[in-house]
Amino acid sequence: MSEPVISVRNLSIRYRTRESMTYAVDDVSFDLERGQILTLVGESGSGKSTVGMSILRLLPQEADVLSGQVLFDGTDLLALEDRALRPLRGRRIAMIFQDPVAGLNPVIDIGTQVAEMLTSHLEIGKKEAKARAIDVLREVGLAEPTRIAKSYPFQLSGGMCQRVMIGIATALNPEVIVADEPTSALDVTVQAQILYQLDQLRREKGTAILLITHDFGVVAQMADDVAVMYAGRVVESGGVREMLKSPLHPYTHALLGTLPRVDGAQRHLRQIPGHPPEMAERAERCAFIPRCGKAMNVCRNTEPPGLMQPEGATHRVACYNPIWQGWSSK
Ligand SMILES: Nc1ncnc2c1ncn2[C@@H]1O[C@H](COP(=O)(O)OP(=O)(O)OP(=O)(O)O)[C@@H](O)[C@H]1O
Ligand SMILES: [Mg+2]
Repeated sequence: MSEPVISVRNLSIRYRTRESMTYAVDDVSFDLERGQILTLVGESGSGKSTVGMSILRLLPQEADVLSGQVLFDGTDLLALEDRALRPLRGRRIAMIFQDPVAGLNPVIDIGTQVAEMLTSHLEIGKKEAKARAIDVLREVGLAEPTRIAKSYPFQLSGGMCQRVMIGIATALNPEVIVADEPTSALDVTVQAQILYQLDQLRREKGTAILLITHDFGVVAQMADDVAVMYAGRVVESGGVREMLKSPLHPYTHALLGTLPRVDGAQRHLRQIPGHPPEMAERAERCAFIPRCGKAMNVCRNTEPPGLMQPEGATHRVACYNPIWQGWSSK
């Protein structure tokens, strides 16, 4: 095991609006190691984006970080002054969002946008930045980079815009990329190309990637490690092979049961019966109980379990009654 480049420790985040409170992230911890892809996976509303945004402190105003740390090279990013965080953002840690078009400025041409990012972090002149911008576009596999540099976002497809965003995110060789559903707005072929590109970055440059997705197919294809989130908590975490082979948490089982078939017959996840909870209060019990077929008295009478590694298991689960079938055959 190599040393983590990002360590999230006991992170809890609440949204407070005039109408409601949402305990979106509750006591989340994980490590992202150098050169590894860690996927955060879970249903809509489980807190994945909130965790992702907190790393670069891009949370909206109504979010309060109640507790926890995001350690980057031993420094807590959540405790840094804005002034100290700014040079890291985009340079050592970069973010890629789901909607590439929204991430680009509609009235500035692509070449200028890439060049501006370069001049904001590097001591180079405009002319050199423009020239380098073309290289950046070429490196992310865009044919005719000179023409694309002169284009505006609306003149490009979603997939091309996402490549531009990956170019912007990776141009300065960041140590970490947080990619929040980077392909879910794109069609299947383009999705595969973009994922390939991210994987190549990891292999060639050793970039660590936190990949947020609700798609276990993407997890199976890309991840080294996985953290499964449910209602703001990590309910299972470990290496992707162990988890796919022997999922321990009833929720992970349910998610895997909805994995799209290889023949592509069912691309979208079937719904797991029931709904995730509202999270208007901090959960006093495991939030999966209403949807769980294995809940026991201990689940109903005890606070939510933390991650633990059952004897014989090779990864961790937050469940008092995990599913053991994988182990009995050993
Ligand atoms: N700005 C906000 N104000 C209030 N509540 C919010 C805000 N952003 C998110 N939430 C709530 O916080 C919870 C976690 O949201 P988050 O966007 O992190 O989930 P997610 O796992 O990324 O979901 P998705 O898969 O839909 O992107 C949800 O209940 C959501 O409604
Ligand atoms: Mg999200």
